[in-house]
Amino acid sequence: MSIRFLHKILKNPTVLASGILGNSKDILERVHENGCGLMTLKSIGPEPRDGHKNPTVIDLGCGMINAVGLPSPGYLNMENEWEALENRNFPIIASVYGSSIDEYRKVAEYVSSKKPDFIEINISCPNSEKHGMIFGINRESSRDVVSAVKKVISVPLIVKLTPQAPDIADIARTCEDAGADAICAINTLGPGMVIDIESKRPVLSFKKGGLSGPMIKPVAVRCVFDIYKAVSIPIIGLGGITTGEDAVEMVMAGASLVGIGTAVRYRGIEVFQKVAGEMDDWLADHALSLTDIKGAAHNE
Ligand SMILES: Cc1cc2nc3c(=O)[nH]c(=O)nc-3n(C[C@H](O)[C@H](O)[C@H](O)COP(=O)(O)O)c2cc1C
Repeated sequence: MSIRFLHKILKNPTVLASGILGNSKDILERVHENGCGLMTLKSIGPEPRDGHKNPTVIDLGCGMINAVGLPSPGYLNMENEWEALENRNFPIIASVYGSSIDEYRKVAEYVSSKKPDFIEINISCPNSEKHGMIFGINRESSRDVVSAVKKVISVPLIVKLTPQAPDIADIARTCEDAGADAICAINTLGPGMVIDIESKRPVLSFKKGGLSGPMIKPVAVRCVFDIYKAVSIPIIGLGGITTGEDAVEMVMAGASLVGIGTAVRYRGIEVFQKVAGEMDDWLADHALSLTDIKGAAHNE
């Protein structure tokens, strides 16, 4: 089921979500061998950052809550990883975050020089210049960060949106107008909280965290549905995809590719070939192609 995404031909529409399996070439290669079409690196930030104290991830059965706190070695301390990735035979998306426009620009420009196939900016982060307001919930800050990054990189730009935006379709359209080549939706949903009733304390050390996995799928599908109506650039739909049928649903909402994060925990690293195979089976059973079902839920 090979598929074209912007300038690249991928072996199938599955994408490893950012932050799930790190940045090492060996792991990304294994993910690719296990059927993944396109691998996203963990978000890379401006400074070395430890992230939050444990516990940072809790499995709730219907998905997970996490507050890992964007741990990053800092963009200047990844030479070994970049060197290993130079001679790769698989496509990657490098994910970038910052807390100011300047940080995004600086990190993205440097990362672009390492020639990933795509750069994704994670705009679910608080903007230090705007009193901690999240970049991706505001039209103006989304536009400014996208146009600043677009000017300094030489690979296609994907913008990853947060479901916290009151009108995610409006943010997606703004990003397209500012130069985004594709949209990725959604990041984790929340923030949420889980309290241990015996100790009477929030379970996560950071107290609040983002939700992922099956419980957020209906929100992700609705976001992709709304974004598809608003933009003409391709969408990577993610949030709760665990099976081929989930992926088919996301494509019907309007996604070109389907991201998988939390399901790696539930179905192992083989989840990519399983989901791609199940999509193929569903399409064959219904005598349909991926193109036939893309955005099909929009038909009257
Ligand atoms: C433990 C964990 C770490 C994550 N780290 C990142 C990250 O570094 N950058 C990012 O853009 N998204 C990050 N995410 C969000 C995922 O990429 C994805 O958007 C989200 O989990 C929804 O997809 P899923 O339901 O398939 O997991 C993380 C999610 C989890 C569960």
